[in-house]
Amino acid sequence: MNKKIKLLSLTSALLLSASIFAGCAKTAEEKAPAQQKEQVVNVYSDRHYDTDKKLYEEFTKKTGIKVNVVEGKSDELIERLAREGKDTQADVLITADAGRLHKAKEEGLLQSFNSEIVNKNIPQSLRDKDNTWTALTVRARVIVYAKDRVNPSELSTYEALTDAKWKGRVLTRSSTNIYNQSLLASMIEINGEEKAKEWAKGLVQNFARDPQGNDRDQVKAVAAGVGDVAIVNTYYIGKMLNSQDQEEVNAAKK
Ligand SMILES: [Fe+2]
Repeated sequence: MNKKIKLLSLTSALLLSASIFAGCAKTAEEKAPAQQKEQVVNVYSDRHYDTDKKLYEEFTKKTGIKVNVVEGKSDELIERLAREGKDTQADVLITADAGRLHKAKEEGLLQSFNSEIVNKNIPQSLRDKDNTWTALTVRARVIVYAKDRVNPSELSTYEALTDAKWKGRVLTRSSTNIYNQSLLASMIEINGEEKAKEWAKGLVQNFARDPQGNDRDQVKAVAAGVGDVAIVNTYYIGKMLNSQDQEEVNAAKK
């Protein structure tokens, strides 16, 4: 069976994702009429949030189609898709960050899809131009700061973080991480390659330390006074504020 993957970067509304999955399941049914009794949509996902589980449950309740989730790290899932090739059982790939979606597309693992619901609800800028993937949720990569050492009025843009006043004060995780790669890609798109390169150099010059750890570690480092500003994804702040780990809660509050 010539079965390529429809790739989705999972995000927001229940109705939305349910509709997308319904579309996929129908395709599977068309391809394999013998399976009409037990319809299943196979989802490869590197997301492991409770909200996703609730979406799947709602979807099954609404459509009667079972959602079979295969969880793994996104790079591993993409590798697995490549290895399984045309024999893969996967219908949908859900991952975080457009950079990863792009990677899967470049490897030829995705096929185009056409959904009126997606077209109507997702701005074109958040969809692949060849319709091999769509965003479903978005988050921002933001600048966090030490409340006691930085006045938010001092902050403006990512570009401004290369200003001399931030020398020795900027924290971020490694550039091997997809979040930073996508951020730089957006800089290239907006300001051009030369300016993006200059910006990256300027940012490195202002580093408080060599990049280490993940986004949460940057927040902790700001709280500990290692640096004064850090670049992190918004949802980590919420996760830390609601963490069982008091150290994380305290760091996020600072
Ligand atoms: Fe993350």
